[in-house]
Amino acid sequence: MVDYRIVVPSGIVFDFNNMMGAGRLQPQEVEQALQQQGAVAEKAVCELRRSGFAKKHLSKDGTPEHVYFPRMPYIADGNPNTEQSIIKLMRYSKHLRSKDVVIFLGVGGSYLGNKVLFDAFGGYHWNTSATLRQGQPCIYFSGNNLDPVDCNSLLFKMRRMAGVSAQEGKKLKIMLVPISKSGTTLETISAFTYFYANLSQNADIDLDCTVVTDLQAAPIESAPLLQLAEKFGWERFDIKEGIGGRFSIMTDPGLVTMAALGGDIEEFLRGARDMDIYCRQAELAENPALLNALLKFMAYGRGRDIEVFMPYSMRLKSLSEWYVQLLAESLGKRCNREGEVVYYGRTPIVAVGTTDMHAQTQQHQDGRLNKVVQFLEVANPEEEAILHNPFADVPFFDKYEGMDMAKALKAALNANEAALTGDNRYNARFTLPKLNEYYLGQLMYFLMLTIAYEGELADVDAFDQPGVEVYKKLMKAQL
Ligand code: PA5
Repeated sequence: MVDYRIVVPSGIVFDFNNMMGAGRLQPQEVEQALQQQGAVAEKAVCELRRSGFAKKHLSKDGTPEHVYFPRMPYIADGNPNTEQSIIKLMRYSKHLRSKDVVIFLGVGGSYLGNKVLFDAFGGYHWNTSATLRQGQPCIYFSGNNLDPVDCNSLLFKMRRMAGVSAQEGKKLKIMLVPISKSGTTLETISAFTYFYANLSQNADIDLDCTVVTDLQAAPIESAPLLQLAEKFGWERFDIKEGIGGRFSIMTDPGLVTMAALGGDIEEFLRGARDMDIYCRQAELAENPALLNALLKFMAYGRGRDIEVFMPYSMRLKSLSEWYVQLLAESLGKRCNREGEVVYYGRTPIVAVGTTDMHAQTQQHQDGRLNKVVQFLEVANPEEEAILHNPFADVPFFDKYEGMDMAKALKAALNANEAALTGDNRYNARFTLPKLNEYYLGQLMYFLMLTIAYEGELADVDAFDQPGVEVYKKLMKAQL
């Protein structure tokens, strides 16, 4: 039996055996599509890397705009990351050690990737464990909604922390970090204004701000965050031309969160770089990003217009949320690049194993034949949990003695995968050797590259989001 899997030299595996077979794709048609449409897409992505332009891509204002995400992994003058920008981030990381709290304010592409980094490398206990933080500040997020209750909970938390600091004779040092390319996004600016007004009035708080925005914006009147940064002399980081929200995680707007965590920025970029080099040099049939795009594109042609992204790891649930934006905004398009109405795109669904096996799997297994389930596993979780049975006199618990939770998690994934495959339902699996900066960099870059390939295959502009302008206009009129 042929084994359809690609093992990247780093050890990441893309297993697409279950995209193939009865009721699914046939090897000959995949091979043919790879040599025809795949080859064309490969050429277009090479050209994107070389020129920094994607076919017919225009900015919101209708002018040609660079797409520089493939340059993010490469630290060089003229690229989104330069030696100076990395040094600046590292200095900033050290500087943040003098703060008690950092609050990141952003939405969409200026939030989702940052949250992935926080969940992967900070996590649930970050804000309550000084041991875990090792001198880095507590980290919170806001501005990703217009929810007064949510904002007030964080404000309440800050006031309480400030009260505790005051009892120790200190001020609570808070860094507010609005992240917004446009500098005008309603959610981000509302939250920033709200927190700034409230926190700067608090005598027990020492407030500082860092602004992450387009530093080249002109005229400055159109860039309120930049205006404030100049007025108050705040630290600032750039969201450069050619860097769009959902493709920005590997440059300043995302890396500021890695800096706050004290994470290894260079390893994160090295992972992405190795993935880019591998995909660039691989034969078509060995290029995991191209294959991932092509198989889903072909499955879409068979009515699979929903993609369930299902990591078997709580820490990676927010990766699934990040991927939702990446897939939905990039490929959900009314028209193709020739202006023809195509209504393209898969609807992304966030799921996490095993949690959603008790919520969504019934639908994945028995519902309409319109889904691709994309599993993600971490082969070696960083911690283990071995069970010991404290209830020896209740026979039911005997089987739990010695159970390794990580093995049970894997068994659950294997079972879910086998059950779907048994019904000829499309599914595939990514395996990360472990969860660290290097492998997360590889995976996130791989997913961005996949989307670029699928944009080419479907002939849609993966880098714009014209559909969001409709509600924005209606909303503006009401405010
Ligand atoms: O991907 C995108 O372009 C959007 O999701 C934006 O990131 C989001 O709307 C936030 O925009 P801004 O960074 O301008 O505040």
